[in-house]
Amino acid sequence: MNILLTGGAGYIGSHTALVLAQAGHNVVLFDNLSNSDAAVPEKISSMAGKKLPFVQADVRATDLVEKALREHRIDAVVHFAGFKAVGESVAVPIEYYANNIHGTVSLLQAMQRVSVKTLLFSSSATVYGLPQYLPIDEAHPTHAINPYGRTKLHVEEMLGDVARSDAAWRIMCLRYFNPVGAHESGMIGERPNGIPNNLMPFIAQVASGERERLQVFGNDYPTADGTGIRDYIHVMDLAEGHAAAVHYLQSHQGWDVINLGTGQGYSVLDMVRAFEKASGRGIPYVIAARRPGDVPACYANPAKAKRLLGWQATRSLDDMCASTWQFQRNRV
Ligand code: NAD
Ligand code: WQD
Repeated sequence: MNILLTGGAGYIGSHTALVLAQAGHNVVLFDNLSNSDAAVPEKISSMAGKKLPFVQADVRATDLVEKALREHRIDAVVHFAGFKAVGESVAVPIEYYANNIHGTVSLLQAMQRVSVKTLLFSSSATVYGLPQYLPIDEAHPTHAINPYGRTKLHVEEMLGDVARSDAAWRIMCLRYFNPVGAHESGMIGERPNGIPNNLMPFIAQVASGERERLQVFGNDYPTADGTGIRDYIHVMDLAEGHAAAVHYLQSHQGWDVINLGTGQGYSVLDMVRAFEKASGRGIPYVIAARRPGDVPACYANPAKAKRLLGWQATRSLDDMCASTWQFQRNRV
């Protein structure tokens, strides 16, 4: 298939591009590089052993999206492009609504014009809000608790309306849990700007000596060791989940949502220990106050993905840490 990846130069997009290209798809990257490196498209091409066309443009430029869809005879779109930092979304919500909501509307308009009606959307487990039960399945009520989460929920609902308006649409919202890790080569990975918000990149920078110590946000949660528990999923497993979903949509119309997680929760201290083992370095840490908005534990019930897509995560926590460390060593 000919597949356009908006945000294809980003963290999850780049790994998915590689997996789709290696599965024989013709992949086109569409990215404005607002949060990615201009070298990434070349890197993916060299890893895939074939040149992936790259369009540097903004998804809000509807005409440019339409042009790319026509020129490359696109059959399906994977929509990664957007902003993703929870704290920033509280500080600059208009930017988040403009990019995440308007960006998706623009993409849908372009797709409608050229009658491309197959779409995978990057959603997030953040749409569940405070877990009411664990593990979280797709029937869990949704309740976004910050502007970023609201953009994801609004887009999911908008996509449901679109699918109901015309039976030709095939739309899947993939709710990612906590993506971590990198391609095993360490050539591509997550490249946060400034101080990382997320645990894994922060730990990697402590291990490499870029940062002095980790702050563990709370050790008085009702969990075994008192620290927060999350469902960390290897980005290569996540990428393979997209390939399975693209395949699924070829024979399924309508709109659906699927969790992409492992079903296994790890605590902050589990992550510290696993990274120490993978890197052979000590990770100094201090216990700090809880981070506002954090939940004690969040992990997926991944049964629907297995049932519908025939996909499940296979990589271990050690794989996640080893590949992150490989990427970290390549970049410093
Ligand atoms: P990322 O920032 O690495 O990738 C997003 C890419 O989109 C970047 O390359 C950026 O340059 C591009 N982009 C942003 N706005 C654009 C626009 N208007 N036009 C064109 N390109 C644009 O983020 P990521 O971690 O790869 O996340 C990808 C998607 O997955 C996002 O939608 C994010 O909300 C979602 N998601 C991420 C996580 C996570 O923890 N990383 C978890 C759940 C969901
Ligand atoms: C994980 C655990 C922290 C940093 C976020 C978004 C979510 C999704 C994935 C996009 C928590 C603890 C963290 C640190 C710490 N993204 N921690 N010290 O908050 O589960 O999810 O990323 O959709 O929407 O909210 O991930 O990596 O920030 O935190 O102790 O310096 O690590 O308290 O328990 P989170 P995270």
